[in-house]
Amino acid sequence: MSLLKGNTFISALDVTDINALAAKALAYKANPLTDKKLGEGKRIGCLFLNPSMRTRLSTQIAAQNLGMEAIVFNVGNEGWQLEFEEEAIMSGTTVEHVKDAAPIFGKYFDILAIRTFPSLVNKEDDYSELYINQFIKYAGLPVVSLESATLHPLQSLTDVITIKETFKEQRKPKVVLTWAPHVKPLPQCVANSFAQWMTEWGEVDFVVTHPEDYELDQKFTGNAPIVYDQDEALKDADYVYVKNWSTYNDYGKIYSNEPEWMLTQEKLKLTNPANGGAKVMHCLPVRRNVELSDEILDSPNSIVTQEAGNRVWAAQAVLSELLKK
Ligand code: CP
Repeated sequence: MSLLKGNTFISALDVTDINALAAKALAYKANPLTDKKLGEGKRIGCLFLNPSMRTRLSTQIAAQNLGMEAIVFNVGNEGWQLEFEEEAIMSGTTVEHVKDAAPIFGKYFDILAIRTFPSLVNKEDDYSELYINQFIKYAGLPVVSLESATLHPLQSLTDVITIKETFKEQRKPKVVLTWAPHVKPLPQCVANSFAQWMTEWGEVDFVVTHPEDYELDQKFTGNAPIVYDQDEALKDADYVYVKNWSTYNDYGKIYSNEPEWMLTQEKLKLTNPANGGAKVMHCLPVRRNVELSDEILDSPNSIVTQEAGNRVWAAQAVLSELLKK
């Protein structure tokens, strides 16, 4: 049975069995080259409309492990500026319509992987996933999200496998997603996506904590408890996932940037003391001593490097499922 419902990977809802997909990723971690002939003669195009380090490198390594050729194109810096609106009169700065560009990618590649971004200005466009959906509509290829306007599914699958491989007890771990301060308004993608995957996975007790007015779209948080008191939320946590996001309701704003929301060793004392306190996760890049303190990032509680390393296996599991279709 395929672990993906169709030919796209843009959300947890595209997966038939999250636990099985995570197990597959961990199997690739144990034996990276076991399917090295699966993608022979196939090519993946990795299109970036904004910057990336981990996603770009891990996706290429994953493709190579499956025998695929990976071609990276930094559309944002090196390509023509794309237009996404239907029936646009292109008398402004955009040079090429996605309707013309995407079918060409369809001629060059077997799988298209795309990183888009939100405007943080037009909520309706961002939450309709205008950019990635236009690529899906016009490319006629399997499409993998390398982060979109509202979600970051390869990151979240990575987060699932990182929890799965590090939690050894016969109970559900308590996982807390906590808002953290930042110097500029950031997308809600990683937080939305983490919430969606934790909820859909169903193997954790999931709690979200943030200052009032930073509520995420309930479509992603589901029935997870929202706790405004960070100390209360952290009690007995096994994992703390740290991330900043800008406001969703009054879209794309920073209301408050209280430094006291930055996780410290003192706050970690509230978490489950077994094994030296909660494990701390972050998707990276991270602003040290703004989002997360040196004392946390440089401590044994931090598993951010292990988490980033696991990006390869998440990408490999997803590409493998698409290649088998
Ligand atoms: N976490 C993540 O997506 O990192 P990059 O932006 O460097 O790809």
